[in-house]
Amino acid sequence: MGYAHEYATAIMHRGRIPMEPTDFVPDWADGPRKGKFYPGVERVPLPDGDYPAAASLDDGLRPAGDRPVDDRAAGDRTTGGFDGQFDLAALAGMLRDSYGLTGRRLGVQANTDLSALPHYPLANWSRGSASGGGLYPVTLYWISGASGPLTPGVHHYSARHHALERLLTGDVTGLVRDALGPAAPGADTDQYFVLGVKYWQNAFKYNSFSFHAVSMDVGACLQTWRMWAGARGLAVEPLLWFDEERLARLLGVDSQEEGVFAVVPLRWADQGGPAGSGTSTSPAAPAAPTPTPVRVRPRDSERSRRVLSFEALRAMQTATLGHARARPAAGALRPAAALPPDQGRLVRPLPAARPMDLDVRSALRRRRSSFGRFAAGSPVTAEQLAACLAAADAGALLGGDSGTGHPPHLPHPAGTATPDGPVQLAKLYAFVNHVADVPPGSYEYDPHQPDGPALRQVTPGSPGEFLQRNYFLANYNLEQAGVVLVPTVRTTAVLGAVGERGYRLVNAVVGAIAQAVYTASAALDLGCGVALGFDNVSYVEELGLRGTEEAPLLIMMIGNERPRPADFRFEIV
Ligand SMILES: Cc1cc2nc3c(=O)[nH]c(=O)nc-3n(C[C@H](O)[C@H](O)[C@H](O)COP(=O)(O)O)c2cc1C
Repeated sequence: MGYAHEYATAIMHRGRIPMEPTDFVPDWADGPRKGKFYPGVERVPLPDGDYPAAASLDDGLRPAGDRPVDDRAAGDRTTGGFDGQFDLAALAGMLRDSYGLTGRRLGVQANTDLSALPHYPLANWSRGSASGGGLYPVTLYWISGASGPLTPGVHHYSARHHALERLLTGDVTGLVRDALGPAAPGADTDQYFVLGVKYWQNAFKYNSFSFHAVSMDVGACLQTWRMWAGARGLAVEPLLWFDEERLARLLGVDSQEEGVFAVVPLRWADQGGPAGSGTSTSPAAPAAPTPTPVRVRPRDSERSRRVLSFEALRAMQTATLGHARARPAAGALRPAAALPPDQGRLVRPLPAARPMDLDVRSALRRRRSSFGRFAAGSPVTAEQLAACLAAADAGALLGGDSGTGHPPHLPHPAGTATPDGPVQLAKLYAFVNHVADVPPGSYEYDPHQPDGPALRQVTPGSPGEFLQRNYFLANYNLEQAGVVLVPTVRTTAVLGAVGERGYRLVNAVVGAIAQAVYTASAALDLGCGVALGFDNVSYVEELGLRGTEEAPLLIMMIGNERPRPADFRFEIV
């Protein structure tokens, strides 16, 4: 058994056995920036791009194969049924609404950083994607070839400027294709987004725990893209298996300091063709592999004077470093699939999910963490709960080569029960505090009941005391949330099925679920917060998960907030 198993166990038990270094105190004054800084590079400002009001969150969460056939031809709505192609406006809009800054957080909430918020140098900027600790460690690179609107090269997305920064000039997309390997789904394009994680950006605060958090951040960012693009008929199908060291060399980064977590191939429109219209030509003919070794030369200028390394983080990066040759075969994940619901448990039917008609951009702009603002006075409706559970269930399907979710550009398997079909890794539990017409208790979600999705009771009774007793921080009163949702994944089974890189997959799925629930809550007029600071082992015991390998990996609170919270509006887009 490799190190990832050991790390997974240490993470699960860290509430009882603290991880090294136990005496760590972050040096706040010497922290890194919340994004890379390449001094002196050329910067290309980006537009914000329009977003169709009809591109609803419900559409964004629907799998490609489930969309009505008519939708696919609805070019005027820019929903091309996932056959659509990106253009610069669409790409820029997707960046703005995920990692781009959209406003400043000045609302009064229960976090310890509250007193810092009014000071401009310490300002907290809002973004569409959530991120552990608000540190946003994912670095976004665009590697583009001749079919794109810019001179081919490598660009870095600067969230602060909403601009692309040129790091390399020349078509190096052949190198990316090589790194992806010949069997990579959807890789026959010359436009790629690459998601790297600069560990120090998170580890300066979370040290050994960092790998666990940042790998979820990757999923949160990917999910933002999948919902945003999916609702417009554009495909975001992430590839998680590739020759990572080769890409790190190309990006000019040390593969111990920065992990390359995902590559997203983009189908690109001819210049002039609107995104999603499906009217443009097929992707440009791929350029031949670049014969000579090339790499990005500008360097990120580190703000911290002292950069520390942490043994667990280095060991996880080494253990999970990927290679395209190790890409799991179709169906390899199947032994790690979520276990079916316990048929012996009492079924509690759910009503139809409340529709989420709001467009994805507006939902992302509304999204924020509740941070202590839940108030139980007004219960969550069962329709809202049903919608959040469905969003979480859909959010767990990452597509691409993840083995979860079916890439839309591949032939659809006949029926979902084929041995090579997509696998659902996550199972959902709900601790119900205050939901109209659903008695308090803990439940498992059963999405495939013949009469529609339902809950199955695990234990009756108010879970508030259990939830608060097992929460580490003081910024939430979990009893005041309407419901606490908990995704579990059989982490060790995933590692057994697809190898140690599977740890990144597990956490990407959990991060993607978190982002789906956050965005759904915004569309449903509910408050939301997610947290990693809880005693995982207590949840295993409470939900009776011993022997199932199911690991409760995140808690997601949804509920109504106190009316008229103190805030100061500061939108920048
Ligand atoms: C993977 C992940 C883990 C998180 N863990 C916590 C947590 O333990 N406690 C908490 O209060 N918030 C947590 N958050 C929420 C972030 O702190 C929040 O997204 C970030 O500060 C940005 O604020 P916003 O969500 O209001 O935009 C987490 C978010 C993600 C995506």
